[in-house]
Amino acid sequence: MEKSDVFDKVVNLTKRRGFVYPSSEIYGGFGGVYDYGPIGVLLSNNIKNHWWKNMVQRRPDIVGLDSGIFMSPKIWVASGHVVGFSDPLMENKLTHERVRADHILEEVGVVADEKMSIEEINNLLQSNKDALKKIGYNIDDYTEVKRFNLLVESNLGDFNGTKDDPVYLRGETCQGIYVNYKNVMDTTNVKIPFGIAQIGKAFRNEIAARQFIFRTREFEQMEMQYFVKPDDAMAEYESLKEYRWKSLLALGLKEENLKWHKHDNLVFYAKEAYDIEFNFPFGFKEIEGIHARGNYDLTQHQEHSGQKLEYFDEEKKEHFLPHIVESSVGVGRLFLAILCQSYTEEIVGDETRIVMRIPKHIAPIQIAILPLSKKEELSVPASSLFEELAENFMCQYDETQSIGKRYRRQDEIGTPYCITYDFDSIDDNAVTVRDRDTMEQERIQINELVNYLQAKFKN
Ligand code: GAP
Repeated sequence: MEKSDVFDKVVNLTKRRGFVYPSSEIYGGFGGVYDYGPIGVLLSNNIKNHWWKNMVQRRPDIVGLDSGIFMSPKIWVASGHVVGFSDPLMENKLTHERVRADHILEEVGVVADEKMSIEEINNLLQSNKDALKKIGYNIDDYTEVKRFNLLVESNLGDFNGTKDDPVYLRGETCQGIYVNYKNVMDTTNVKIPFGIAQIGKAFRNEIAARQFIFRTREFEQMEMQYFVKPDDAMAEYESLKEYRWKSLLALGLKEENLKWHKHDNLVFYAKEAYDIEFNFPFGFKEIEGIHARGNYDLTQHQEHSGQKLEYFDEEKKEHFLPHIVESSVGVGRLFLAILCQSYTEEIVGDETRIVMRIPKHIAPIQIAILPLSKKEELSVPASSLFEELAENFMCQYDETQSIGKRYRRQDEIGTPYCITYDFDSIDDNAVTVRDRDTMEQERIQINELVNYLQAKFKN
């Protein structure tokens, strides 16, 4: 199967099976935003729970937080986003299509990094004019490049109609962590090194939202900020890199689909930065960033807020401003990576079977309960079985259509086990359990079912 085919098929399946819907579809759509459907929300929650377990539950040195999306506008001035958080934008003079200059240059193998001035980028566009024309961008049809700020403004509190001090929707979740760092220190017994973790929505005015849910204007981040002694920063950074790599493998991403990418030119806050990239059908692309941010953030917030943000080292009796190492990963990107990796087609008899081999421990529906017929003598006990199993597992009850069609539907949403309740079940108190991957079927006694399935899902 061609890689580009896989992507189209994944996008098609996500809509068809209720993973992801385009936003506001009945009104003609709304660009750069997607909604997660009944199956998608389960997968996305499982990805988030896995992250939380690894980053908070298993870590005595890390605590959680859930800060607001709206914050004081001063935070975004202090963080550097109001001035420095922008992409190079150019617009087609005829069609008004907006493109990112760095993206189209990347398509012809030229890197325009974040540190480059607008003049340098305009020069790069001119010197690569011919190559760009070949891929459909006639530079003469476009305006000159300008900086476009990615922060999304709201009119919250803007009662007198001025636009001088807009309230932004947060552009990254970690700012909520920095401004609560003192609260956490004062109200818990954390001692350096310690981390604060948070999952939540972030918003960016992406010029070219593209590749489905890979780059969207509203998305969810899972970020952990680890506060460390300045001298320990690089060692802590290395250990966070190793921990996050292992966590992605534990989530179920295959090692051969992952690689490190070191940033040669760093964004305004970073001392050192690596991305973990995933092998998407459209190439290796960033799914997670792991950054050594130095004391940039606390220095800025200390200066702008006028509040002391130093940590007191009880042993050495000295104050210092901690350094921060962070990990930041998008839920949507992990979701897309899992789906692309899981999509499989195989020939069974004279039919093509589509199977989403989603790692079993994060499968949206864990178990499907399928009575062989709709007749009451089967549907009543099968419904009771659903109620019993639903206490322990995410289950789906389905009595529509033929058993073959129901199996195919469950394969397409990645359900690891289908349980068939048939006419023999009434007498032998046993059911057939079918494995998604091998399609093998086993007869299991109903009173042993919970233990049997729990063992299967142990991760
Ligand atoms: N606090 C650091 C930070 O926000 P980032 O590299 O801008 O760093 C981190 O973003 C992660 O957030 C990315 O690796 C990606 O997974 C996700 N992300 C960023 N922008 C996104 C977008 N427009 N759509 C979907 N996910 C995005």
